[in-house]
Amino acid sequence: MTASGLTTGHAAFVEEARTRGELYIHQAYEQYSPENQEAWRKLYARIQPRWERYANSQFLAGLDALRLPADHIPRLSDINKRLQPLTGFQAKPVSGYVPGFLFFDSLRRREFPTTITIRPADRMDYLPEPDIFHDLAGHVPMHTSKAFADTLVRFGDCAHTAARMTADIRDEAERARRLTSIIRALSRFFWFTVEFGLMRGPNGICAYGSGLLSSYGELQHAIESDEVQRYPLQLEWVINQGAEIDHYQPLLFIVDSFDHLFGLVDELEQWMRAGKLFNVAPGLPEVNPGDLRSFLDAGKAA
Ligand SMILES: [Fe+2]
Repeated sequence: MTASGLTTGHAAFVEEARTRGELYIHQAYEQYSPENQEAWRKLYARIQPRWERYANSQFLAGLDALRLPADHIPRLSDINKRLQPLTGFQAKPVSGYVPGFLFFDSLRRREFPTTITIRPADRMDYLPEPDIFHDLAGHVPMHTSKAFADTLVRFGDCAHTAARMTADIRDEAERARRLTSIIRALSRFFWFTVEFGLMRGPNGICAYGSGLLSSYGELQHAIESDEVQRYPLQLEWVINQGAEIDHYQPLLFIVDSFDHLFGLVDELEQWMRAGKLFNVAPGLPEVNPGDLRSFLDAGKAA
C-alpha cells in the first residue's frame, strides 16, 4: 500500500498500469487511504442538499436505487450488482483517458469507463480530470434511467457510423479532416448534454449533466446565476459551439426530457450521414491524435 493511496495524480497502482499499457484495471479497493475515504465523505455531505434542490428526479431515484454510500467510497462491484438489472450498464474501472472511439464503443456495450482515483482533499472544488466522485456520483446514477442509458448507447452507434462512413475516403488528409470535424461535433454534443445538460422540470430547470451534478459550486451556479445563458438545445448551435473546460460554463442548453434527448442523438446521426458535420466551426475541444487514430483504426477494422 502506498502512502498516497489512490489520490488523483499520485496513485502508483494506476500509473504503473498505464505504463504497462493496461486500460482496464480492477478497483484495488484496499489501497484507498483514510484521506481518500474522508474526501468522499466530505464531497458527498457537501453536495447532497444541492442534489435535493437542483438534480433531476431520475438522478435522485438513481442514488436510491444504487444505494450510493455517503460514508465511504463505493465498491464498483456493489454498484454494478444493483445497476445491471436495471439497464444492463456496468461501471468498468480504467487507468486513465480512453481514446474517443473506444469510449463511445464502451457505451454501446453498456460499459462506462470509470476512474478509480479520488481528488486530493485540498482540491475539493476543481479538478480538470475526472475522478471517482465525478464518474460514480455524477454519471452512474443517471445510468439507472432506461431512456438515458439508451441515449448513451445511441452515442456509441454514432461513433460507429462516423468510423464506417469515412473509412473509404481515399484521400487520407481529407478523411482525417472530415473525421476530426465529426469527432469535434460529437464531443461538443456530449459535453453540452451528458456532461453539462439542463432539463425542464415540473418545478423549473434542473440538472442532469454529470459535470454539474459532481460540482458543489457549479451545480448551484448553473441554475441560479445571472451570468449563465440558458437556451433550448438547438443542434446547429451545439455542434458549432466551442466548449471551454477551465471555468464555470457561461452557456448551457436545456432539453425537455430524456426522450427529447434521445431524438436529438438520432437527428445528430442523420446529420452526420448527410455530411452536415464535415465542416463544424473550428475551436474547442481539440481533437487529439489518439482520438482521431482510434476512429481511423475502427474504420479500417469495419
Ligand atoms: Fe464526465
